[in-house]
Amino acid sequence: MGIHLDQIVPWGRSRNEYDLMFRLAARDMSGGVLDCGGGPASFTAELSACGNRAVSVDPIYVYSSTDIRARFEATAESMLSQVRATPGDWTWRYHRDPEDLLANRRAALERFLADYEHGLRSRRYIPGELPSLPFASGSFGLAVCSHLLFLYSDLLSEAFHIESLRELCRVANEVRVFPLLTLHCEPSPHVAPVRSALEAEGWTSEIVCVDYELQRGGNQMLKVSRT
Ligand SMILES: C[S@@+](CC[C@H](N)C(=O)[O-])C[C@H]1O[C@@H](n2cnc3c(N)ncnc32)[C@H](O)[C@@H]1O
Repeated sequence: MGIHLDQIVPWGRSRNEYDLMFRLAARDMSGGVLDCGGGPASFTAELSACGNRAVSVDPIYVYSSTDIRARFEATAESMLSQVRATPGDWTWRYHRDPEDLLANRRAALERFLADYEHGLRSRRYIPGELPSLPFASGSFGLAVCSHLLFLYSDLLSEAFHIESLRELCRVANEVRVFPLLTLHCEPSPHVAPVRSALEAEGWTSEIVCVDYELQRGGNQMLKVSRT
């Protein structure tokens, strides 16, 4: 794995947030769901508890639950300070304020950790990373990717984005990515080149407005499916 735990902030979202970010309906789960870069989100734990086939892939799944919780606690205060220092960047509709945001992130982490050891043994949490995933072609009906692609556009190149979306399209029949903003709340420069590359390879993409916004202006996802 090319990533170390001290390079990432293991803040995860809940299933309810995923449902809103990706406009998920019950029929979207029918072919199995992959959460790519799922980290400590509780989406897969909550989905599988309801009897759905859900799998998360992330490089941090080589670490223990103790390590992941410790990293969360080590980064929580500085994350909160950054949020408080940039009030213009956030909307407080889903989360009431920065303290509520932290409480919700901690709740998602605990929900994830409660499922983690058992989920590792059940192959629900798989260590792996873009741009090359350890799954056969067409393994999932849907792949979602939250707060990784496009968000880290300064760190991850256009070529990495194209390769990663191509890989997600290989393993799933449909792919949804949220948000389309960078960490600076600016539209990602990689969205248009990714869409052009995928279209040339027979995929259709659309930008869809969703009922979730935390980063100001960040209420859109990219939806990609086979033409
Ligand atoms: C900001 S977290 C988002 C977690 C989760 N998707 C959510 O929205 O709650 C980003 C995650 O991406 C993972 N990650 C980093 N590089 C990755 C890669 N190349 N492929 C897959 N996941 C990666 C990190 O380990 C981290 O867990």
